[in-house]
Amino acid sequence: MSEKINEKNMVCEPQAEWGGSWTERKLEAFGKYVSAYLTIMRKHPYLKTIYFDGFAGCGDRKSGTDTELYHELLITDEEERLYQGAAERVLDLKNELSFDYHYFIDTDKEALDKLESKLYKYQCGKNPFQFRQGDCNEHIATLAKAMRDPSKKLASLVLIDPFGMHINWKSIEELKDTRTDIWILIPTGVIVNRLLDRKGELKNFQILESFFGLSKDEIKDMFYKTELKETLFGAEEVVQKVNKPIEKIAEFYTQRLKTIWKFVTEKPLRLENTRGVPIFHFVFASNNPTGVKIASQIIDKAH
Ligand SMILES: C[S@@+](CC[C@H](N)C(=O)[O-])C[C@H]1O[C@@H](n2cnc3c(N)ncnc32)[C@H](O)[C@@H]1O
Repeated sequence: MSEKINEKNMVCEPQAEWGGSWTERKLEAFGKYVSAYLTIMRKHPYLKTIYFDGFAGCGDRKSGTDTELYHELLITDEEERLYQGAAERVLDLKNELSFDYHYFIDTDKEALDKLESKLYKYQCGKNPFQFRQGDCNEHIATLAKAMRDPSKKLASLVLIDPFGMHINWKSIEELKDTRTDIWILIPTGVIVNRLLDRKGELKNFQILESFFGLSKDEIKDMFYKTELKETLFGAEEVVQKVNKPIEKIAEFYTQRLKTIWKFVTEKPLRLENTRGVPIFHFVFASNNPTGVKIASQIIDKAH
């Protein structure tokens, strides 16, 4: 995948390349949750259910630049052939249950068009699938507004599945006090940890700030320690990054989610590269204790 930090130190969106068994583990866990969710929601027929896929993609990848990250995340041709994105899996679940409304969001028009033609065969309900081009952050605000309308009686399952740090904390906050269950892919090892440089200079602090919804100093306090060390020239401040920073990022994001949802999976699904290094964490949050119990069981089995 070509998710990378470019010359201007900006985080770039990958060229629709993804994969590896970590992708499979992520989507398998998500698929299991969707099945359980729809089964439970059957007992609440007065609620209309929404599936909101904020970074829908098109379910396949095109070749991209030959970067270090690409090699880290690359899947085999066989895996790619078998690859079925989240949207298709949700619709392909072998049961009669389905959501009332489906929203697929992506900034990439081409990817959305491709997805639309792929999903055409699944369209059978009374509400046509909605394919919306644009920034997920903006569409979440629209979703949240609808969710807050008590007359609409909505429950939503939201999938936030970007490779980068595109989801702003402000957008996540919009979903507070709504009947929303959410799965979020956090690029803990592959991006966030790289932005938290060893010396704590935080050149990309704006990206970190909008991602965590905190100030540069608050982020620094969380991931760095400052000590005074005696040197030949007197006392000097030495900045040190915390131990196990990738796990710490996952823990920290989990804590942040707890300020929005009542229940968050304590142990997110840890997704590793072929060398066993964690690259992403997949975390779940809900205001429903049953939801988090089921998600935690799914994660435990997937580890
Ligand atoms: C990792 S892929 C999605 C994978 C997909 N969920 C699946 O299971 O196959 C990420 C997608 O997010 C889209 N994207 C990037 N930034 C976005 C944004 N701010 N809002 C919505 N979509 C975005 C990209 O165009 C890309 O298609």
